[in-house]
This record gives sequence, C-alpha cells and structure tokens, in this order.
Amino acid sequence: MMDGAPLPPPNPDLLHDALAGLTAPKKSLPPKWLYDARGSALFEAITDLPEYDLTRTETAILRAEAGRLARLVPPGGALVEFGSGASTKTRTLLDAGPHLGAYVPVDISEAFLAETATALRRDYPHLSIHPVAADFTAPVALPAELADRSKVGFFPGSTIGNLDPAIAVRLLAHARGWPDVRAFVLGIDLVKDEAAMVAAYDDAAGVTAAFIANILVRLNAEAAGEFDPATFAYRATWNVEAARIDMELVSRRAQTIRLADHEIPFEAGEPIHVSASRKYTSDSVAALVCDAGWHLDKMLTDPMDRFAVAILAPEV
Ligand code: AVJ
Repeated sequence: MMDGAPLPPPNPDLLHDALAGLTAPKKSLPPKWLYDARGSALFEAITDLPEYDLTRTETAILRAEAGRLARLVPPGGALVEFGSGASTKTRTLLDAGPHLGAYVPVDISEAFLAETATALRRDYPHLSIHPVAADFTAPVALPAELADRSKVGFFPGSTIGNLDPAIAVRLLAHARGWPDVRAFVLGIDLVKDEAAMVAAYDDAAGVTAAFIANILVRLNAEAAGEFDPATFAYRATWNVEAARIDMELVSRRAQTIRLADHEIPFEAGEPIHVSASRKYTSDSVAALVCDAGWHLDKMLTDPMDRFAVAILAPEV
C-alpha cells in the first residue's frame, strides 16, 4: 500500500456483506461470494473429486432422462437456469431439445457467464442465448425478449440447498409467477450416510478447504482485508436438526483482523460460517416446493437414491 488516503475497496457490496456477517454474534460470510473466477474454477475441480459424487450422479440422471426433461419445454420455449456456471449439465438438455428456442443462464460470476455464452452461441446457433449476470438470492428480472416464450426453470446441482429455506421458497415462488411457466426442474441432494455426506465436503486433497478459504483471499483482494488464510482451519460438520452440512473456517488462535477501516476480533476456535448444503428427503422437497406454489410431480433418482432431479408442475 502507498501512503496517503486509502483507496476505496473495489467491491463495496462484498465489504458491506462481510462487515454485516463478521460483526454479528455468530460470524458468517455469504456463500455467493465464493464464486469469483478462482472460486468457480475450484468448484469445477470439486465436481471431479472422488468424494463428491453429486455432479456425477446428477449428470447420469440428466442423461438418462434428457428426452423427458427437454419435452417439458414447448417448441420455441425458453430454459432459464439459475447458477449456470459453465453450463456443462445444460448441454445434455440442449442436445436432447433441438426444439428449444432460448436459453437464459443466470449466474453471479460475470466472467464465467460471458465465456459460457460465447461457447454456447457457437455450439447452438439456433438458440437465442440471454445471459443474466445476477445474484439469484434476490428476485431476478427476466430479459424482455422472453415475454412471449413459454418457460421452464432449471436449478440443478442442489444449489438450492445452499439457500436459507425462506430464500429458496422466494426463488421458487418468483419462478412460479413467470408468465406461461410450464415446469421447474430442481436438482436435490438426498439425505444419506453421514460419513459419505461429510467426506463430500471435506475431501482428502483439500480442494473444498481451498474453495471455502477463497472467500478470505477475496476479502483481502477486494475489500482491503488483512486475513492470513493459514490462521483458519476448515471444518465440515453434519447438522442433524437442520439436515445440512455446515462449512466453517475456524480461527486457529485469538487474533484481530483488519477489514477496510474495521477491526474484527476472533477468539481461538471461533468459527465463521461460510456455507450450508441442505440435504432433502422426498417429503422435505414436497413441503419446500408446496410452500412456493408448486406441485412435486416426479422425483427422478439414481438407483442408490443419492440424488434426485425433481420435476415441479404449476398445478396438481
Ligand atoms: C454449489 C450446491 C453444488 O453445496 O454441494 C460444494 C457447493 N460447497 N462444496 C454444494 C459446494 C462446497 C455445492 N453446490
């Protein structure tokens, strides 16, 4: 840093969220800030880990059921995907649905989204692609070009499990209100053996630990933070009551950390909650979607019931 007036942090929204979370009695940071370019790349690496079978299992279900899922979209209709990332899974549906008219990837990582849109336009020239760079934990306005198209929502990856239930219901309810919405396809990780669930979020190679600690790296780079990531240990635990995996960074010692013009005190062993990944049963999925005005039409699962692709219908 040079002397003189401090530069304003380049990411005021990140700083605002971080200060709100780190000055609360129970410290937390919102998981949406995990996904900058480096975080998105680390997450893609997670999907290849032997311990993390969500993506492989979901992809197998999507491949097996691609025709049925693509047919939920009427000819010329639009597929609207939340948290599209590299849109790898989506290609399975796009390949099975040459009748689709438009694809709307919604993602918070602008850099990733732009790359993805370019690749999709090249590979699916007949499709109209409308990328939306947005935080889908707040209601997202659809591009005006979609007004006349039928719509199907697509939210794979069990990313809905990262959202607080109230936010998840709000997102689903908002989609339920789209003009001419025909269905919603929701990827859901199912409750299973505890050791398997914990291992998926605490891999031997430490990729998940690096992914979660990336939020501290970002605070340093974008919000004038002075965290030493090595002074935090990563911890993943199964929370039975809430049916979720909690991902936390635990301060290895008592320390005070500067964040812009604030000082954040940590006790030894004090955690920062960074992400939760909720796991569901068919009953808990049915209850969640019902609260948002949807009907759980079908649960497509793998043979071992590890993951489900739920098809939601607008009415019974
Ligand atoms: C983004 C929901 C697919 O919770 O499983 C993976 C994010 N976080 N490992 C998940 C995540 C740590 C992931 N999803």
